[in-house]
Parts: sequence; C-alpha cells; structure tokens
Amino acid sequence: MMSLLMPLMLSAMMAVQTVAMMEVHVPDQPMVALHGRDVTLNCSFRPAGTFNASDVTVFWQLTDTKRGVYGYSEGHVQLVDQAESFVNRTNMFPSELGLGNASLLLKKVVVADEGSYTCFVRVKEYGSAALYLQVAAPYSKPVVTIQSESNLRPGEEVALTCVAYGGYPEADVMWQDGAGRNLTDNVTTSVVANEEGLFSLTSVLTVVLEPNSTYSCQLINPLLGEEGNASVTITGQNISFPPVALWVTIGLAVCLLVLLVALAAVCRRKIKESCEEARREAEEAKELEEDESKTAMTLLKS
Ligand SMILES: *[C@@H]1O[C@H](CO)[C@@H](O)[C@H](O)[C@H]1NC(C)=O
Ligand SMILES: *[C@@H]1O[C@H](CO)[C@@H](O)[C@H](O)[C@H]1NC(C)=O
Ligand SMILES: *[C@@H]1O[C@H](CO)[C@@H](O)[C@H](O)[C@H]1NC(C)=O
Ligand SMILES: *[C@@H]1O[C@H](CO)[C@@H](O)[C@H](O)[C@H]1NC(C)=O
Repeated sequence: MMSLLMPLMLSAMMAVQTVAMMEVHVPDQPMVALHGRDVTLNCSFRPAGTFNASDVTVFWQLTDTKRGVYGYSEGHVQLVDQAESFVNRTNMFPSELGLGNASLLLKKVVVADEGSYTCFVRVKEYGSAALYLQVAAPYSKPVVTIQSESNLRPGEEVALTCVAYGGYPEADVMWQDGAGRNLTDNVTTSVVANEEGLFSLTSVLTVVLEPNSTYSCQLINPLLGEEGNASVTITGQNISFPPVALWVTIGLAVCLLVLLVALAAVCRRKIKESCEEARREAEEAKELEEDESKTAMTLLKS
C-alpha cells in the first residue's frame, strides 16, 4: 500500500511545483472609471529570475463570463477571442511588459464595462488576480418644479418634482426644508435607465404648503459624493420663480424690448419718409404754380 501511495504523492507534489504560482497584483479596492473616459486596469507581476518581454503571455478576461478582453503572447497581440464590446477599445503597454507591468488600457468606458476582470500572466510560471471596475457618471444639475404654478394657497398639498439625468449609479435624493431638516416621509423616487445604462431620476416630494418655505433637492452619488442641488421657494400665496424660469423671463422681456425699439425706429423712418414726400409734393406744386404764373405773365407781356 505504502509503496503504491508514495509515487502518487510525489508526482502530485511535483505537479504543484511545476505550476508553482507566480505573484500577480491588482488593486484590492474597486477601480472607479468615469463613463466616456479611458481607464487603466492595473496588473503587475514579478517572476522569479530574469525574463524577456517575448517570454510573457498575458490574458485578460471577464471573471464571470470568461469572455476574452485582451491577449498577448510571444510578442504579439492575440485578439481572436476578444468579445465584440471590447473591439478597438483595448491596448496594453508592450514596453512595460519587461518591467512586470501587464496593465490594460480600456478606452471610452461604458456602463456595461462594470464588473470583475481577471489578469492572467505566464512567464514559465503562472498566476492570476481579479480586480473590480465600477463605472460612474455625474448627473445633470437637478431641476425642481412645482405641480401647478398658479392658485396655490397655504394649507394645500402640492407635489414638488426634482429631475436629474445622465448619471450612474443610482443616486440618493435628499430633500430638505429651509432650515436644513430632512424631509423623508412623503418622498417617492424612481429611476429609469436609457440605452447606455445611464439613469434619469425623478423624485417627488408631497408637502403641505406653508408660506415662505424653501424646499431643496440634493443628489448624492454613491461613487462621486454630493452632486448638484436645486431649490424652490414659496412666498406668500405665490411662488418665486426658480432661477431658470427667471432668466427665461428676463430673456423674453429683453427680446420684446429690442423688438419694440426696432419697430419704433422703422416707424419713425417711415413717418419721416412720408413727411418728406409730402413736403416734396408741396414744393413741386409750388414750383408748378410759379411756372404757371410766369407763363401767365409772359402771355400778358406779349
Ligand atoms: C475597429 O476599427 C477598424 C479600423 O479603424 C474599423 O474598420 C472597425 O469597423 C472598428 N470596429 C468597431 C467594432 O468599431
Ligand atoms: C504600467 O504602465 C502603465 C502605462 O504606462 C502605467 O500607467 C502604470 O502606472 C504602470 N503600472 C505599474 C505598476 O508600474
Ligand atoms: C439627513 O440625511 C442625511 C443623509 O441621509 C444624513 O446624513 C443627515 O444626518 C440627516 N440630517 C438630519 C437632520 O436628519
Ligand atoms: C405626508 O403626507 C400626509 C398626507 O398625505 C400628511 O398628513 C403628512 O403631514 C405628510 N408628512 C410630511 C412630513 O409632510
């Protein structure tokens, strides 16, 4: 029995030795990449002894689906197994390979790139490590609108809506009153993803109107921290315009004024022209009269 087991154990130990792991390092913390930007997925290795870049085989793949992201062996890029979504978006740094750097450049990051990536490296020995990529996108500045802009009376219930779009991941919405108190009771927040995976966010706060109150909506992106905020102030029975509406109003007023001035200028020119015409006609009539009287005088003389 013993004599049978020993060779088996020995060969098992030798097998372990021949695939002795090489250390491969990737960041422990998730890497955060901005949507639309480029990111370098860091991976480094340290083989025992010296080596050439041409001895190195690197293979990046998606950890969960095992789909290929990038390959490099014997000094050549190997993209036969590359998943379609990565075509034309990946690069390694071949000059860095000899320094133990197998980092991957991923261009124009999209939401779908989020996930775990495994970096395999072989230089005689073999090793691998996985890192996690998170995608972030800042939201547009939120805009707060009020359900019905007219005939608001204190004591009435109104819905305030805060909208922001184009962000990722899902943001927390915090509503506050003018005194900075959290309003969390009557808030419903919903998100919808567009075809790129970016979210549009709509948060509705229902409040009982009180005169002279301010309501503000603050977005907090879990990856990017506090983003924009917007507020609406209700004064007396009326609502003060939010800044955007105010500027639009001022813009329209200025346009109207310019139009009026232009119109006035045109009118004045027209009036002046008709006056001049009248004067010219009068002069002509006078000249005609004079001519006629001259003729009459000549007639008389002759
Ligand atoms: C990748 O780039 C090549 C050459 O520029 C182009 O012909 C091909 O359509 C691109 N493929 C994708 C999927 O963008
Ligand atoms: C590997 O190379 C890339 C590109 O030059 C660089 O950004 C990265 O910092 C390098 N990583 C290490 C560990 O040297
Ligand atoms: C309001 O909510 C935020 C986030 O949920 C929290 O950090 C803060 O302490 C809260 N403030 C109050 C006054 O409850
Ligand atoms: C939430 O709404 C209910 C009625 O819809 C109202 O009675 C209550 O005061 C509201 N809570 C807050 C904190 O505004």
